[in-house]
Amino acid sequence: MSGKDRTPTQTLIRVEDLCKVYQLGSHTNQPIRHQVLFDINLEIYPAEFIAIMGQSGSGKSTLMNILGCLDTPTSGNYWLAGRNVAYLSNDELAHVRNRNIGFVFQGFNLLRRMTALDNVAAPLLYAGMNRNESRKRALTLLQQTGLGQFTLHYPNQLSGGQQQRVAISRALVNQPQLILADEPTGNLDTQTSHEIMALFKQLNSDQGITIILVTHEDDIASYANRFIRLKDGRIIQDGGKGTLLSIPFQDKRITSQP
Ligand SMILES: Nc1ncnc2c1ncn2[C@@H]1O[C@H](COP(=O)(O)OP(=O)(O)O)[C@@H](O)[C@H]1O
Ligand SMILES: [Mg+2]
Repeated sequence: MSGKDRTPTQTLIRVEDLCKVYQLGSHTNQPIRHQVLFDINLEIYPAEFIAIMGQSGSGKSTLMNILGCLDTPTSGNYWLAGRNVAYLSNDELAHVRNRNIGFVFQGFNLLRRMTALDNVAAPLLYAGMNRNESRKRALTLLQQTGLGQFTLHYPNQLSGGQQQRVAISRALVNQPQLILADEPTGNLDTQTSHEIMALFKQLNSDQGITIILVTHEDDIASYANRFIRLKDGRIIQDGGKGTLLSIPFQDKRITSQP
């Protein structure tokens, strides 16, 4: 899906000339500037399934954290569902993170003293729903992701794949428009990775949930419909299926070494 023919009002995410610089302390008075994202421009439409690819250190997580409103860009603009996030208050940002975005991480990030059911229900309780209602809704989600039998298990009583299903159920519980998944299969074996990717694919095609997935593995990325490749903080490839293999990894827009 190229999305070029859509009007801007339909964009879910619009990123314009976005840069990220980390300031690192040093032994002298002069802080060290470390720029990790350079002039990122992106438009993402509802119901897209995007894989962000690139080697370790290329800036994938930094970009995801900014898209998830967990971090702010150093310069440039980011509109989420038409709103420039730079102008949102902390409360509004927290609301966006809780209601509009579901997060899935490599390490599952479950609360280990809570059952699967209570892990999934936690964001609902936090949003003010009563315990019974939230548990009922959490149960429905766990059933949908194939964990109906495991609701009272604690994370250490579940396999990696089952823990990731709990995390995906939790990410879905507030009915987000957007799921951000940073290396969600990074801790899983090959077969379980493909089962988790099939679940993401199903959520995208059946429910139209926009999914942005970070991975450095081509076979995991192949579940997506659009591929964005980062190299040293720059987008060097952005395209649909069929262009993934045909575009050389070394893009001509990156000036070569002298
Ligand atoms: N909080 C931070 N402070 C300073 N540098 C950071 C910070 N987070 C990431 N970096 C640096 O930014 C670069 C990109 O990191 P990251 O976005 O995590 O890459 P990826 O997810 O593609 O592996 C790396 O060089 C990393 O060391
Ligand atoms: Mg990363």
